[in-house]
Amino acid sequence: MKTNEINVGIVGTQFMGRAHSNAYLDVSHFFDLPAEPVLRAACDNDPVSLDAFARRFGWQDKEADWARMVSRDDVDLVDICTPNSLHLPVAVAAARAGKHVICEKPLAMDADEARRMLDAAREADVRHMVAFNYRRVPALALARQLVEQGKIGRIFHFNAVYYQDWLVDPAFPMVWRHDKKIGGSGAHGDMNAHIVDLARFLVGEVEAVCGAQEVFIRERKTRDGKGVGTVTADDATQFLARFRDGAMGVFCATRFATGRKNFLRLELFGSEGSLVFNLERLNELEYYSRGDEETEQGFRSILVTESVHPYLKAWWPPGHIIGWEHTFIHEIGDLLLAIANHEDVKPDFYDGLRCQQVMDAVGQSAEQGRWVAVPGE
Ligand SMILES: NC(=O)c1ccc[n+]([C@@H]2O[C@H](COP(=O)([O-])OP(=O)(O)OC[C@H]3O[C@@H](n4cnc5c(N)ncnc54)[C@H](O)[C@@H]3O)[C@@H](O)[C@H]2O)c1
Repeated sequence: MKTNEINVGIVGTQFMGRAHSNAYLDVSHFFDLPAEPVLRAACDNDPVSLDAFARRFGWQDKEADWARMVSRDDVDLVDICTPNSLHLPVAVAAARAGKHVICEKPLAMDADEARRMLDAAREADVRHMVAFNYRRVPALALARQLVEQGKIGRIFHFNAVYYQDWLVDPAFPMVWRHDKKIGGSGAHGDMNAHIVDLARFLVGEVEAVCGAQEVFIRERKTRDGKGVGTVTADDATQFLARFRDGAMGVFCATRFATGRKNFLRLELFGSEGSLVFNLERLNELEYYSRGDEETEQGFRSILVTESVHPYLKAWWPPGHIIGWEHTFIHEIGDLLLAIANHEDVKPDFYDGLRCQQVMDAVGQSAEQGRWVAVPGE
């Protein structure tokens, strides 16, 4: 690779493919990076989607086969934006070919796969990242700073919900997200994975879980309208958690929260203060401090748009808010910086594995109807 270029090969050209492409195109307009991303090649097994995507975002070359893509000499970084069952084979092949890898979440179908991916990346000594983009919402990065500074004190509670409602409609057809063989799980891997990662980011490791899962609508029409498919992946998963440091956790992910489109809310209650975040108000963080004068105590809403706040120096003057797509720009920026500087970047495949271990334990708990310990490593 030229020292001032990082050549990217992306696999998957729909939702996340678009979000990541936008980030590669925008990142060096706003962040000072030692190396610029080059949109070298895009890959998809759907030629129509691939053509339109490559044209729209300016990807230089196209590949129909991911195995060819990851072995190209002119690709330095492989970006995986495919359904979950492809994460393991693409990531392992990419690492073995000496490529750096960013992989969408959940990292894998289960913890066993996640461990194999981590091992492959470590053995190849490449940079690896799992795309938990919500860590890079400035308000949540600020939340982490406040926790690290001791402003929240000992954390007692972490409560998080992630709600969507796109499956309430019984006419919504079968997609890959309904199929355990392709997704690994449903709302659990798609949405709980995000809030579990945020729990690890803000509170620490989860020690044990007790969960329940449900499929509310068991059969759906196939996309062509001619057949009927069986839904094998959960529509909703909720669970209780105990953290290693003694905090208690409550988690709920559902695609049946009627009226909620992409509603992620979390609360942290601690001995010195509390934090509340709501993704629909992404630029704000609610903070309560027991250190405030008694007469002035109450939740305040911090508008996280000052240049002293995480990532904001690169953007607009105070009060000029940013959006969801910026989280991907921050993520890609940090990854490119790490590659250029030969440094590790978080969250990496280890974080993906730890998240997956919590997810698997919840699945076991739901099946067995009891608390299940999360493995220690
Ligand atoms: N970070 C987030 O907020 C977020 C949001 C949505 C999805 N995701 C994750 O991103 C990943 C992709 O999800 P999506 O919503 O973009 O899915 P999608 O269905 O919109 O796109 C998947 C793409 O992969 C392509 N694909 C499928 N099989 C392929 C193959 N064999 N070879 C090459 N391409 C293939 C499809 O044609 C499609 O272009 C999933 O792991 C998902 O969990 C993350």
